[in-house]
Amino acid sequence: MEKLIIRDQLNRPLRDLRISVIDRCNFRCTYCMPAEKFGPDFAFLPKSELLTYEEIERLGKIFVGLGVEKIRLTGGEPLLRKDLPLLVKKLSDIEGLKDIGLTTNGVLLPKYAKELKAAGLLRVNISLDTLNSELFGQINGRGVGVETILEGIRAAQDAGLGVKINMVVKKGLNETEIVPMAKFCKEQGLQLRFIEYMDVGSTNGWKMDEVVTKREIYELLKEHYLLEPVDPDYFGEVAKRYRYEGTDVDVGFIPSVSESFCSSCTRARLSANGQIFTCLFNGEGHDIKEFMRRQDMTDEEIIERITGIWSGRKDRYSDERTEEGAKNRKKIEMSYIGG
Ligand code: GTP
Ligand code: 5AD
Ligand code: SF4
Ligand code: SF4
Repeated sequence: MEKLIIRDQLNRPLRDLRISVIDRCNFRCTYCMPAEKFGPDFAFLPKSELLTYEEIERLGKIFVGLGVEKIRLTGGEPLLRKDLPLLVKKLSDIEGLKDIGLTTNGVLLPKYAKELKAAGLLRVNISLDTLNSELFGQINGRGVGVETILEGIRAAQDAGLGVKINMVVKKGLNETEIVPMAKFCKEQGLQLRFIEYMDVGSTNGWKMDEVVTKREIYELLKEHYLLEPVDPDYFGEVAKRYRYEGTDVDVGFIPSVSESFCSSCTRARLSANGQIFTCLFNGEGHDIKEFMRRQDMTDEEIIERITGIWSGRKDRYSDERTEEGAKNRKKIEMSYIGG
């Protein structure tokens, strides 16, 4: 299929699509879905509100035709969506798609890793914020221990999937875990990425002084390891990477708060309920599900709508975070949009 290159108001092309397939999660991480806000009575989306696999496949093809080369499946916890490998197969068959990954908490990987790989999945990014099981149980809000995630990591490796580890660092919570996690991942040959705690949504009570910056983490690592910078893998890569000298193991930082990367942001997001978000920090998205369903639209009409949305895009929230007015903006919760 011939690709149409579309650019936004800041001249950024559309390259990546992040698709949230479900708003539910089996964890209640304090920085994402705090248990007191996402309690037993929380109204998650009914199935009819979720995009079907056929709808996601159709949109995936259209997005690839508009320049998308990489698709990432997210949640909530994407492996809670029934028969996810079926969706992976449909998407990985799209001609012109170069990369397909999944971001997961890892709990269900022992069950699904092989099937996901066979369906065409290339990579998984697994969240793990500490190696201390007691602390991890508190962070995930469900008392799940570290060994469960390590089993998930092993299952992904055994299945032949690429694996990265995501560690969100929050002051007063897990900054003592930075060096032990670095040591463990270096020994295991796993790429670890330290993520600055972000003000996504409005339920996590984010405060700037709880952010541990890339510089702080880097300085701490430098006390233990020799690090050399690594060039980005592709335009718009969110992680700044370094290599432990004399090894082929990388360590990365995702400095969304202290060193924003909006100028190279090529990501569109499809939320679990079928809205297009042009920034992680938008309050509302642009409906695409009802548009497709209600009016039985042709592909051309959908392409026109998406092109219009992307062409009008001006978002650069992380650049504007400290400006007056940015703080009070309404923002979508992480669980609808998958980070
Ligand atoms: P790779 O394909 O492996 O580079 O994945 P990724 O880093 O894009 O995906 P992942 O889901 O592992 O996200 C890691 C962290 O980066 C999460 O905390 C995301 O919220 C954050 N992130 C990803 N894209 C963006 C972005 O466009 N803006 C901001 N502010 N954060 C982002
Ligand atoms: N700030 C930074 N990262 C977050 N994640 C979830 N909530 C936040 C937040 N408030 C991370 C998850 C996962 C990735 C998709 O986003 O840990 O690794
Ligand atoms: Fe679930 Fe991931 Fe959010 Fe934790 S960070 S509650 S695992 S979606
Ligand atoms: Fe892209 Fe918005 Fe993140 Fe900036 S804050 S990098 S525009 S998603």
